[in-house]
Amino acid sequence: MNQDELKAAVADAAIEEIKSQLEKDTILGIGTGSTANLFIDRLGPLRHHFKGAVASSKASAERLEKLGIEVFELNSVGTVPFYIDGADEVNTHLHMIKGGGAALTREKIVAACAERFICIADGSKYVPQLGHFPLPVEVIPMARSYVARELVALGAEPVYRQGVVTDNGNQIIDCYEFMIADPVAMEARINAIVGVVTNGLFAARGADVLLLGKEDGVERIALK
Ligand code: 5RP
Repeated sequence: MNQDELKAAVADAAIEEIKSQLEKDTILGIGTGSTANLFIDRLGPLRHHFKGAVASSKASAERLEKLGIEVFELNSVGTVPFYIDGADEVNTHLHMIKGGGAALTREKIVAACAERFICIADGSKYVPQLGHFPLPVEVIPMARSYVARELVALGAEPVYRQGVVTDNGNQIIDCYEFMIADPVAMEARINAIVGVVTNGLFAARGADVLLLGKEDGVERIALK
């Protein structure tokens, strides 16, 4: 199976994971990226079985609405029972690096409001240590150079993601050559730099369930 087929398999598995728990008033939290898109596409036919969704990006909101799924503002919803999203890397503790698609801040906000985070990823994303994938950091534009210098002091090689403006009007710095020994501590450390909106480590609030697409099928890894 190629990577796209593995992504499709985990999107199918995520539908199976939540289908029986959908109710007329259920509002789902929906992530961003190619794996999340495959999940969104599979939600379309189920749209009459739940109320709607909160999206972690404008792109996902548009895709949901095109399928006839109502998109709600998070402020009017409170908590969501599930947040379903992909990852750029995920480790055995279900800590993740996310933000390859520059949606990390909204993803982290919706994840914070979720009772269960279901991560859907092809097997290439499962790693013993986070950091081969460059860690994205969303920054307030005027703070970009300052934050980059602070990231160098932490041992990263920061690179400005040219031409990318986030849904929040901010910029992205990617941290290369930055293997992360303690994701919980590093998430907090980077978030404490003035001018950082958030970073792509999802460790303080990692996933609860990982649906991992492998050659021999989808493996379900659950922490609780
Ligand atoms: C977007 C994300 C995505 O979840 C992550 O980049 C994985 O994307 P894909 O499913 O396309 O591999 O964090 O900001």
